[in-house]
Amino acid sequence: EQAGKGEYDHFMLKEINEQPTSLAQAIEGRVDSTTERIALSDFEPGTFENVDSVQFVACGTSYHAALYGSLTLNQAGVQSTALLANEYSVSAPPIDDDTLVIAVTQSGETADTLNALRRADAEGARTLTVTNVVGSTAAREADDTLFIRAGPEIGVAATKTFSSQAVMLALLGQRIAGDLRNGPPADLESLLPALESMPTDIDALLDESDAETIAERYRDSQSYFFIGRGLGFPVALEGALKFKEITYEHAEGFASGELKHGPLALVTPETPVFAIFTGQEDEKTLKNAEEAQTRGAPVIAVCPDGHPAVETADEHLAIPDTDPELAGLLANVQLQLVSYYAADLLGRPIDKPRNLAKSVTVE
Ligand code: G6P
Repeated sequence: EQAGKGEYDHFMLKEINEQPTSLAQAIEGRVDSTTERIALSDFEPGTFENVDSVQFVACGTSYHAALYGSLTLNQAGVQSTALLANEYSVSAPPIDDDTLVIAVTQSGETADTLNALRRADAEGARTLTVTNVVGSTAAREADDTLFIRAGPEIGVAATKTFSSQAVMLALLGQRIAGDLRNGPPADLESLLPALESMPTDIDALLDESDAETIAERYRDSQSYFFIGRGLGFPVALEGALKFKEITYEHAEGFASGELKHGPLALVTPETPVFAIFTGQEDEKTLKNAEEAQTRGAPVIAVCPDGHPAVETADEHLAIPDTDPELAGLLANVQLQLVSYYAADLLGRPIDKPRNLAKSVTVE
């Protein structure tokens, strides 16, 4: 096992560091910035032209990627919703022949997600699986499959598969929107070059990250909050999930605007707030972060250098400048590192947290 970790103490850190490679593999041959098109030649031209709505089903970290994908689709003008697969049997919206149900599952074996996929199929929906595992049950059972090509992930806490899922869903969303409009979507001019430079951006971020210092500075806190807006919201949820999974400390993620509707009652000087800025209504998130600061909470801004939040926040975790559709995923890498170093300081068994399994094959 030690050999598989190479120079790293844990698979999780290795897998965080593999993201430049796993993302390059995910997008290879699927994006063409010279023609300003997302080819995604996994699917024939016009594959999605009859889709009238999209439902994502997933669990855990994959649900956060699904939420990310659903928000990008909505922002591209396609009606879409992300549902927890374990809630699907009691809460699925109506389905018809033109509903596309997308199962997002790293392993392709999660029982709850397979159940949701089967239910959607039985009700006549078209189904698609986004997965990392060729030959997995979800890949075999869906009408279509999109592989994220992240390579094996050993750490129980998903890292590189989350970023690859989110990127593939952003691409798929643009492709669906393009098929529906019968032409290339309008706003790829900034997204495509940003996608292509994502591996380099993550490399730079990994080289210069202050995550270890931040983890050390706030190690004795009572609770850890993560806030984000728009595409920063699923990243806030994922940041908190990762933190609780591997540190066993209390962590929660909120939509920035929800802070004032309840969670603010919990905010004290002992509750650091990680604020994620993606370039979508950042001024509002900054105001929300300042409301927490007024109650004594230290704010850690996750944003590019030169961003207005750097001036007011207590700490800064820097991300390279990029397209708003990808900024949250760069922020997520910083948050993965914070969780990793916090768990390491606490001496937790990072790759195999108590009570958790890599793939949950029971309901
Ligand atoms: C388990 C893992 C999580 C994972 C979830 C969904 O709970 O511990 O890390 O996100 O299953 O797994 P999947 O393979 O469907 O993505």
